[in-house]
Amino acid sequence: MKYYVGVDLGTSSLKLILCDGDGKVINTLTNEYSVSYPHSGWSEQYAEDWWNALCDGLPRLLSGISPQDVAGLGVAGQMHGLVILDECDNVIRPVILWNDGRTFKETDYLNDVIGKDKLSTYTANIAFAGFTAPKIMWVKNNEHDNFNKISKIMLPKDYLNFMLTGVHACDYSDASGMLLLDVKNKCWSSEMLDICGITEKQMPKLFESYEVIGKVKPDIAHKLGLSSDTVVVAGAGDNAAAAIGTATTGEGRCNISLGTSGTIFISSDKFGVDENNALHSFCHADGGYHLMGCILSAASCHKWLCDKVLCNKDYTALEKEIDVDLLGKNEVYFLPYLMGERSPLNDTDATGMFIGLRPDTTRSQMLLSVLEGVSFAIRDNLEVAKSLGIDVKSSCLCGGGAKSPLWRTILANVLNVQLNIPVAEEGPGYGSVILSMVGAGAYNSVKDAADTLVKTKETVIPDAALSSLYEERYNKFKKIYPAVKGLYKDIKE
Ligand code: XUL
Repeated sequence: MKYYVGVDLGTSSLKLILCDGDGKVINTLTNEYSVSYPHSGWSEQYAEDWWNALCDGLPRLLSGISPQDVAGLGVAGQMHGLVILDECDNVIRPVILWNDGRTFKETDYLNDVIGKDKLSTYTANIAFAGFTAPKIMWVKNNEHDNFNKISKIMLPKDYLNFMLTGVHACDYSDASGMLLLDVKNKCWSSEMLDICGITEKQMPKLFESYEVIGKVKPDIAHKLGLSSDTVVVAGAGDNAAAAIGTATTGEGRCNISLGTSGTIFISSDKFGVDENNALHSFCHADGGYHLMGCILSAASCHKWLCDKVLCNKDYTALEKEIDVDLLGKNEVYFLPYLMGERSPLNDTDATGMFIGLRPDTTRSQMLLSVLEGVSFAIRDNLEVAKSLGIDVKSSCLCGGGAKSPLWRTILANVLNVQLNIPVAEEGPGYGSVILSMVGAGAYNSVKDAADTLVKTKETVIPDAALSSLYEERYNKFKKIYPAVKGLYKDIKE
């Protein structure tokens, strides 16, 4: 029997999954690491922490498996993070993450001075603070010595692939989020490289997600329980990989992820752009394209309230306190903008906020408002998709938040969309396994593999009465951000 490894380089942890050739999950393992917030709105991690988490986890994941039987490995990763290496391949500075908002000046310069039209022509997207190009410009503007040392530019998962194989590679789905890729033509945009002051020599070689970039280096294979014949595929950005892991491939399928971030992902065979660029237009890991809206704080809002405010990590018990009769009737609202907001607001100054508190407000109303606020923010993105003529009747749901039956019910009713929960909950990790199976030759196409292997375990159908209550609540929620938007800049330090 052959085995395949999927790696999901997340923001809060590295998740590993081992599957057999039938796609059955044999083993999983999670290694946590921390995020540092050196200034308000900044977020960083050490690339070395990711590598150490992989080196510690893989031998344990593979215990009892013969290295020769591990046929393929794929990595999915948090997108947009800037990893820079010097000419000796040492990491130059901590990685600036996807939800870091420090680049607001560079983002404004790109959108206002270079201009959104030009950016959209070059890359199919406009600038958002979390994207990689503004980060490169920030390093250039603020850390000249570091900028001058840059020999290789890569994304988070590409760092792990580089350490495994020695190959400086990137796939099209993840590269799309750099604002350096001509998404339509699948090549680096020379205009964008010029604007950032970098050259193609510093950029990774581009691959489809399911293509093999190389094999594991013999010394590393020996150390990690792999074989030097184990193939490594290019892998994908975590959202594209999650979409593969839920069989969201081909034309017009949808996947929603409730992880640290929250995303709504609509796959397509054809290239297309949201004319207002509120949704990202990116390549997909199946060889096609997708549109995606990303909210910066989703399950992280839930974790923040429970861990940091309520100081209670018993999520199940806290959720049990919520009276289901309160669904659709909660008078407390929460804006989930703990790290500013990406889609569709593109506002780095926005912050989180509760409104509607009274002397008898309970913690369960506040917790419910967090689950609802995140769901409403996802709905904001669904509305953009609807305005483009995209009709989403059903969607897959994955990510840590999808484990909560209450949150699934709330989301299905806020969106008025049927939600399908896959058997293998490890969206990006399972997607990476599928990509590695295609790379190793077990399947002819990503679509074939995903359609064969992904099974649904549960379907959440919206209830007409509850959906209409949530429709009213959403219409109220929608009024809060425009009313406070002007204050955010004033209250900022
Ligand atoms: C997508 C995005 C996030 C990260 C988080 O554009 O920024 O979903 O990939 O992992």
